[in-house]
Amino acid sequence: MTGAGEDRSLEIDRNLGMELVRVTEAAALSSAPFMGRGDGKAGDQAAVSAMRAVLDTVRMKGVVVIGEGEKDDAPMLYNGEKVGTGEPPELDLAVDPVEGTRLLALGRPNAIAVIAAAPRGSMWVPGASFYMDKIVAGAEAGDAIDIRATPTENLRRVSEATGRPVEQLTVFVLDKPRHEALVNEIRTAGARVSLHTDGDVMGALLAAYPGTGIDLLMGVGGTPEGVIAAVAVQALGGTMQAVRAPQLPEERERLAEVIDQDEMERVLHLSDLLGSDDAFFAATAITGGPFLEGVRYDERVGVRTESLVIRARSGSIRHIRGIHRLNADHIFGERGMAEVVGVIID
Ligand code: FBP
Repeated sequence: MTGAGEDRSLEIDRNLGMELVRVTEAAALSSAPFMGRGDGKAGDQAAVSAMRAVLDTVRMKGVVVIGEGEKDDAPMLYNGEKVGTGEPPELDLAVDPVEGTRLLALGRPNAIAVIAAAPRGSMWVPGASFYMDKIVAGAEAGDAIDIRATPTENLRRVSEATGRPVEQLTVFVLDKPRHEALVNEIRTAGARVSLHTDGDVMGALLAAYPGTGIDLLMGVGGTPEGVIAAVAVQALGGTMQAVRAPQLPEERERLAEVIDQDEMERVLHLSDLLGSDDAFFAATAITGGPFLEGVRYDERVGVRTESLVIRARSGSIRHIRGIHRLNADHIFGERGMAEVVGVIID
């Protein structure tokens, strides 16, 4: 288990996010046919294959540090897998070909294909930690949040920092039994709650991105998702803290073997989760939501996608709409789906 530690910026000389967005588009296009079919695993497999194929066309020496799991269980995009053409820059990659597998399987909003990249050695590696408690807010909140404080206190502080009454603040929370007390407290404090069965990378994005109607994310979600979210939050100038929050006895036992109690309870700040400001984040919506439009089939022009690309160093944010032609085998191989025929950048 490593901390991200010192700044490892490489001053990467190009916006890799513009290349990585082809990777998330490929994953979204390949998994979208599985929307609402009740089989998230098949959708995930399609997304993994497409993501893997396009990743190898990107000029980089990448290592998957957050992927589909360990090599034995994951034939592709496993932790430690090398991807890219093998030329510099050397990068850590965190991938989630379908973030919100259940959302895809059930045809619910906000399933995304997502990737984050940063200089080699700069991403925090979760190791045996599967779950973490997270709090995320936008740039306006400054350093107001403190994950050790109560939700009521955090709402009061964000209200003070942003000049908005608590009653106008909306908190994204995963709809899980473990969050019953959290949800009750947020409601008692007077704020509004937006409950989602899955997808807290999107929750963190919404909290950090101005004007989405979501002001904060609170609660326990996946640790890998926490690291991916940290890249986006840092690039957006937002604020985030996390603490390991093991949910399963095996997880607690495995963690206890490798870290002590102080480390277990340590507050992880953005700089712990990501030790570089040279990071890139790209996401493409698979199922549509209020923030990004999902993959849509349009008989006249092809398949439409909407993606988000963020570069931390410059702070640039791009919403990219793509139009892709169906059945162009040369892009994704035999099961090929699409070829970009037009791109609109807002
Ligand atoms: P997957 O699509 O990878 O299964 O993740 C969905 C998700 O909702 C994440 O967004 C979240 O961090 C995590 O699962 C929460 O895990 P759990 O459903 O076990 O509470």
